[in-house]
Amino acid sequence: MKWWQKTIVYELYPKSFKDTKGQGTGTIRGIIEKLDYLASLGVGAVWMTPVCRSPMVDNGYDIADYCSVDPSYGTMDDMKELIDEAKKRNIRIVIDLVFNHSSDQNEWFLESKKSKDNPKSDWYIWRDAKEDGSAPTNWRGIFGGSAWTWCEERGQYYLHTFASAQPDLNWANPEVRKALYDAANFWVDLGAGGFRIDAITYVKKPDVFVDGTPDGDDGMVSVHDMTANQPGILDYLHEFKREVSEGHDIFTVAEANGVKADELKYWVGKDGAFDMLFEFSHINLEFKGIETWCRPDPWKISDLKKALRDSQNATKDNGWYPAFFENHDKPRCVNHYFDENADKKMAAKAMGTLLMTLRGTPFLYQGQELGLENVAWPSIDCYNDISSFGQYEFALSEGFTAEQALACVHEFSRDSARTPMQWDDTPNAGFTCGTPWLPVHEDYREVNVMKQEQDETSVLSWFRTLAKLRAEYPVLAEGSYEEILADHEQIIAYIRKNEEDELCVLINLSNETAAYDPSLCEGKEVILNNAETYEKGSLAPLQCVILR
Ligand code: GLC
Repeated sequence: MKWWQKTIVYELYPKSFKDTKGQGTGTIRGIIEKLDYLASLGVGAVWMTPVCRSPMVDNGYDIADYCSVDPSYGTMDDMKELIDEAKKRNIRIVIDLVFNHSSDQNEWFLESKKSKDNPKSDWYIWRDAKEDGSAPTNWRGIFGGSAWTWCEERGQYYLHTFASAQPDLNWANPEVRKALYDAANFWVDLGAGGFRIDAITYVKKPDVFVDGTPDGDDGMVSVHDMTANQPGILDYLHEFKREVSEGHDIFTVAEANGVKADELKYWVGKDGAFDMLFEFSHINLEFKGIETWCRPDPWKISDLKKALRDSQNATKDNGWYPAFFENHDKPRCVNHYFDENADKKMAAKAMGTLLMTLRGTPFLYQGQELGLENVAWPSIDCYNDISSFGQYEFALSEGFTAEQALACVHEFSRDSARTPMQWDDTPNAGFTCGTPWLPVHEDYREVNVMKQEQDETSVLSWFRTLAKLRAEYPVLAEGSYEEILADHEQIIAYIRKNEEDELCVLINLSNETAAYDPSLCEGKEVILNNAETYEKGSLAPLQCVILR
């Protein structure tokens, strides 16, 4: 097994982690300061969302220079020190490659937009207007509004899957691909332990661009439906593998919204392009097609179980699964998967147990280890996230009231995952001595690292216990996965097994007591339990146990 299959990855949102300059945004020195904290969680790799120079229209997912560090985060020397200091603690730093698009302030785009005969003319996706001057197609960008923006200087439109400040790179041009691979190799040479590759499903564009049937009252159709996962995309991605990742002791995990479990074999594993792939079926349970916050569908625990079953099965013999229930784009899991009445501390522990005991590498997201919850700010103006604005406007255009549109934002806003890390109960939760760029969650005096470190029953202590358990029982990393009680409507349960050991994980995902066949418990000892009692054949609401 490779090192990254046995470890825990921590996803870190640098802007909100730890500020050492009083500027209200996190710094790389802040991360260095907290490396021992990360080590205490058993973390062997830290994936940082992008820290390259950026105008921060999308908090770093709009890169102006791929081989740089944004001055707000620090310097390249800070970055080197981080990589070295992390290495001393057996932690590797994972870089986020945003390769589908750059910032519109990237030198490449500034050149490309100058004229049609500029040497970089063809580095982005340019098209003429329709005869009436309107955009080349009716595609809606993922953050809302048209996916095309008019450029006066060049007299053409450019395509952007996301915000207009994030023009899509033209991967059909080999020079572009080479420039991107060179950038990735710059980070390999600097000592990166791996890459998370952003929004990869969009890099191959369709051969012809045509209007689609509108899916909303705005007359537009989601750009995702028109462009994601085009035939031939895997050729590019295999080239990336050959040019960048192959031959290095690093891992790659690609963000691939829309890739189904049964397609995983082409994407990951020995013959796949990446080591792991984030697919979203278990996290987008309420969105059957595109992610439209105002149109969620109801879902059941059995849907979650099915999504997890499919991805576990798909990576059983080939590839490797990156387990995650939170990231910087998703609501907090205790709110997302459970209703208001659920005991959030129990829920955080149950989800933590699921995360750390599925077969695969757990990706723990900043603040999840404290059981942080969503924010619900009183007005859309309190929010910062560009996609929240787009979703809010879309809901209004679909006839929702302002109050209803805001309720959708409360439920799904990416800002909930981006509020500053809660270190202690001092002002701004010890995140900054300046004004935080995003308000700290109002519960920080009760919920913070300092307090939870002193409490054996806290969510943080639970995560540390889980990390120790993974170290103590290698079967959790190495063992096979076999689901049991597959038809149970409340409990997800499975056996992790290798030649030496066998563990049985039982998690009641519902807020009601759940019964199961008590013979499952015969001859087994309880090695983990988030409730005070243990009764064979019955789990309290949100109770989880591991039996050996
Ligand atoms: C990915 C990132 C998200 C970003 C988008 C555009 O989905 O996770 O945060 O906004 O790509 O780069």
